[in-house]
Amino acid sequence: MTLPENAVLERETIFDRFAAAYDAWYESPIGRIAFPQEVDALRPLLQELPRPWLEVGVGTGRFAVELGIRFGVDPSIPALAYARERGILSVAARGESLPFGTAAFGAVVMVVTLCFVEDPLAIVRDAVRVLRSDGGLILGLVLAESPWGIHYRTLAEQGHRYYRLAHFFTHPEIEAVLAAAGLEIIRERSALFQTPVDQLANEPAREGAVDHAGFRGILARNRRGVR
Ligand SMILES: C[S@@+](CC[C@H](N)C(=O)[O-])C[C@H]1O[C@@H](n2cnc3c(N)ncnc32)[C@H](O)[C@@H]1O
Repeated sequence: MTLPENAVLERETIFDRFAAAYDAWYESPIGRIAFPQEVDALRPLLQELPRPWLEVGVGTGRFAVELGIRFGVDPSIPALAYARERGILSVAARGESLPFGTAAFGAVVMVVTLCFVEDPLAIVRDAVRVLRSDGGLILGLVLAESPWGIHYRTLAEQGHRYYRLAHFFTHPEIEAVLAAAGLEIIRERSALFQTPVDQLANEPAREGAVDHAGFRGILARNRRGVR
């Protein structure tokens, strides 16, 4: 993803500087309603995969705790302090170079992380390396073409502190990254069916790829099956 050099440097430190503010979103009026729906989109995808599970870009550990993920990595030490406090066994590392052996995990999870990295394919490739042959990669994404993606991109143009540093992927772009790493999408779930400017209501996530959903969970597995 191409950003000016100063913005790349800023993105490197944004989650250090705003770890507390980022974490506080989950307790905000919108976060309290949206977060359980996002978890509901991801949980059934994870349930079919063998443990142990790893979250790459674990941040402050909110998803890891809710999803029962024991291990996490993130380059942001301030964010990791929250994750550790929440009981996640986490280490400071980048997804491009995970400090784990080959085939160590049954699931690797990344929630709104790929949109903040320079080289998403490098991260997906290293996730594939640490995955068992019967394991799977799970992504939680705000797709660029969804009403929420459009809303966030508008905020980015207005200088929003996180979103202007993000690249929101379209579904074909994500499919291409996964395919380049040898993965294919085998299951999707959708959540957040109201637009971001509506009063959010509690709604369960749905199976499948719902175009107007604000949040998408994707399960991808090795195209060749057993390696
Ligand atoms: C938007 S936050 C998401 C955090 C968490 N998954 C959540 O949803 O609350 C993106 C996270 O990706 C992390 N990150 C940035 N670059 C990364 C990289 N190269 N490898 C792994 N994580 C990275 C950031 O430090 C940040 O914690």
